[in-house]
Amino acid sequence: MNNQNNIYPVFDKMLGRVDKEDLLKQKSVMVWFTGLSGSGKSTIAIALERELHRRGLLCRLLDGDNIRSGINNNLGFSAEDRKENIRRIAEVSKLFIDSGIITLAAFISPSNEMRKMAADIIGKDDFLEVFVSTPLAECERRDVKGLYAKAREGKIQNFTGISAPFEAPESPALSLDTSQLSIQESVQALLDLILPRVKNK
Ligand code: PPS
Repeated sequence: MNNQNNIYPVFDKMLGRVDKEDLLKQKSVMVWFTGLSGSGKSTIAIALERELHRRGLLCRLLDGDNIRSGINNNLGFSAEDRKENIRRIAEVSKLFIDSGIITLAAFISPSNEMRKMAADIIGKDDFLEVFVSTPLAECERRDVKGLYAKAREGKIQNFTGISAPFEAPESPALSLDTSQLSIQESVQALLDLILPRVKNK
């Protein structure tokens, strides 16, 4: 179509990520938390989001509470369903990243293959993998939701770390063991990693 016939020239070009980042005065990045149930992923991600928000940075936190109860409420914990869970989360995250929003995702994401799929969807340069490496024994001792006990009794099938595998990441950007570090120490390590990347000069 030539320009003379185009009655909506303003709509020719969709606004892009850089336009959004400039508006928000920040750069977006994906912070992908992986680790066992009860390792502290959501707790750290919630505290990190607060700290970034306090510094005037717009974030979006995705975790089981807002994803598995909504868009992914038809998925269980078979290997196939977990892969689809992670695929959808990565696609949704990509939309936030493209809107200039710092995106935090806290999911077990138990295999290297699943996390690689997420990194490929989002883009490797934007993907910071954070391994919440709290040992299984400590997660099980905490047993915040009582799920480890049920898994040991065989009342829950395919429970990560008990009857389903968890592969530790090979080269995460950061490892945080919450049996050794306080939440504040973990958040500080994350801020040191993230702040230099998200400040829009
Ligand atoms: S995954 O593997 O990434 O698709 O899992 P995720 O979406 O992060 O969901 C993990 C939370 O679901 C609860 N839950 C289970 N976890 C692991 N295995 C089984 N079979 C299972 N069934 C229910 C559990 O509370 C996890 O919560 P978190 O927040 O990780 O502690």
